[in-house]
Amino acid sequence: MKICISADHGGFELKKILIKHIQSLGFEIKDLNDTEYDPNDDYPDTSKLVANAISNKSYDKGIILCGSGVGASVVANKYKDVRAAICHDTYSASQGVEHDDMNVVCLGGRIIGDALAKEIVAEFINAKFVDEERFIRRKEKLDQIEEENLS
Ligand code: RB5
Repeated sequence: MKICISADHGGFELKKILIKHIQSLGFEIKDLNDTEYDPNDDYPDTSKLVANAISNKSYDKGIILCGSGVGASVVANKYKDVRAAICHDTYSASQGVEHDDMNVVCLGGRIIGDALAKEIVAEFINAKFVDEERFIRRKEKLDQIEEENLS
């Protein structure tokens, strides 16, 4: 599985921690804005790196951090085939993938602690979409909404 990550200054420290954690779980992860800390960077610029990479299918799952997770999720959901949400609990992190085929998780570096964030990304990475008729039907409706509004 190909995983990518990005963060603005609000998520910079947590990003570093999560990269190490994800590697320790045996996954490869690509930091798409592997730069020095920049207190003046803007979340649309950093978030779109992951959103675009998921939209064009270069990566399977993405993680985006900003201060709250809000800006990251707003940016990500403007991209075709990106299904992003803020998840600050483990239930949403796995259920979002299993039911909704979420392919980007957004985290707020100023909101949650390291230990919970590590569990959340592990749940997100390990979860798989459940191939049941009701979930497929809902996903097709999402695709229809996207078709009507994002093209
Ligand atoms: C940056 O200071 C902060 O506004 C940003 O990281 C994020 O929280 C936006 O949603």
